[in-house]
Amino acid sequence: MSQNNIPYKIYLSEDEIPKQWYNVRADMKNKPAPLLNPATMQPMGFDDLRPVFCDELIKQELDDTTAYIDIPDEIRSFYKMYRPSPLVRAYCLEKALGTPAKIYYKFEGNNTSGSHKLNSAIVQAYYAKQQGLKGVTTETGAGQWGTALSMASAYLGIDCKVYMVKVSYEQKPFRREVMRTYGASVTPSPSMDTEIGRKINAEHPGTTGSLGCAISEAVEVATKTEGYRYVLGSVLNQVLLHQTVIGLEAKAALDKYDITPDIIIGCAGGGSNLGGLISPFMGEKLRGEKDYQIIAIEPASCPSFTRGKFAYDFCDTGMVCPLAKMYTLGSNFIPSANHAGGLRYHGMSPILSQLYHDGYMEARSVEQTSVFEAAEQFARVEGILPAPESSHAIRAAIDEALKCKETGEEKTILFGLTGTGYFDMVAYQKFNDGEMSDYIPTDEELEKSFATLPKVNL
Ligand SMILES: Cc1ncc(COP(=O)(O)O)c(C=O)c1O
Repeated sequence: MSQNNIPYKIYLSEDEIPKQWYNVRADMKNKPAPLLNPATMQPMGFDDLRPVFCDELIKQELDDTTAYIDIPDEIRSFYKMYRPSPLVRAYCLEKALGTPAKIYYKFEGNNTSGSHKLNSAIVQAYYAKQQGLKGVTTETGAGQWGTALSMASAYLGIDCKVYMVKVSYEQKPFRREVMRTYGASVTPSPSMDTEIGRKINAEHPGTTGSLGCAISEAVEVATKTEGYRYVLGSVLNQVLLHQTVIGLEAKAALDKYDITPDIIIGCAGGGSNLGGLISPFMGEKLRGEKDYQIIAIEPASCPSFTRGKFAYDFCDTGMVCPLAKMYTLGSNFIPSANHAGGLRYHGMSPILSQLYHDGYMEARSVEQTSVFEAAEQFARVEGILPAPESSHAIRAAIDEALKCKETGEEKTILFGLTGTGYFDMVAYQKFNDGEMSDYIPTDEELEKSFATLPKVNL
């Protein structure tokens, strides 16, 4: 079908907000490997996970077989405040590039938290409240996840304690204040409030922290405080499940106009937005109904898919969290200090890791200066100021569109635009002042980190 008369924005009605999440594991022949108990190195069941996570979320985490899981009405009502999110035809970008490719992006930045993270934050806060808990703890890096969880917790009237990576806490005071405005307490990590924080501070004086440290602290506080559980903004199967609203809506909008994407692109930090976007398409691919080229984009300075090992590893630095089998750079890996583009986590979603390992998707890494170049090119024609994380996907979408310009192919490209970058202006400033550089870890650095991977005999 000709795609010349597609509207700039394809909207769905409120009624078309998904009523169920789609669990791609149900269609995977090779299921993602189970989480392991850090003390015994044995697979964890429902009871093992109860001290850390909410009951209903554990059920979702462990469910490899139910294809569709109902979205509770209260969550759908919350989704209605900002969903369905628009699917935009990037006519202006296509014109600027002079490409015959048709480019679409699913924009998840149209809520106050500024990113897709709210899709899972509201779910996790909801189940905590349902269970009668007082509150939740979490970590945040750049602050998008912490902001989303603060908003969701405020809406539902539960407490929210955020451990924020110290360097971001200091460099992003406004992000911190947004979370406090929504009623969350925000502590720079590593702190002196937790055993693990004190240990990390003693071993690495002056450390500016990492996501892995902040996770350890948040888990410790959740397990030691009555009425609290820990919630995570990415990586876990349950988070990827919640994020499938992105892909389900995108597919429904494209289906309205009989459009089938050739290429689907998403940035990959812990894998939740990418997993959510691709899930319904991947389901068709797994069932042999259709084929798509699916590409994960990650930073060259934190290349878990493209240079990591597929192995069991700790999800946190303090080694208190369950272990996951995933593409990982090692739980001690910390991206170079000059890295400003986000997506800094050392590991990757076990679901996406298994799919990548089995050849169902590709991965590429891109350098941050080229990411910010793409971000600015996009902002100037499409108007949206993208988050650096999202701009990894923009980079790849532009590259694919330029390939089409060379070959004359009219491919249809769909990418995930996960959020806005208004709190990332220090990074943009560095780029604009010509002070941003690229750093690619050496093989020796990665080998050093791989040497710390736990030995698991399963
Ligand atoms: C705007 C934005 N996009 C993407 C990501 C990457 O996370 P994930 O891979 O879980 O989608 C983040 C995570 O911090 C983010 O804030």
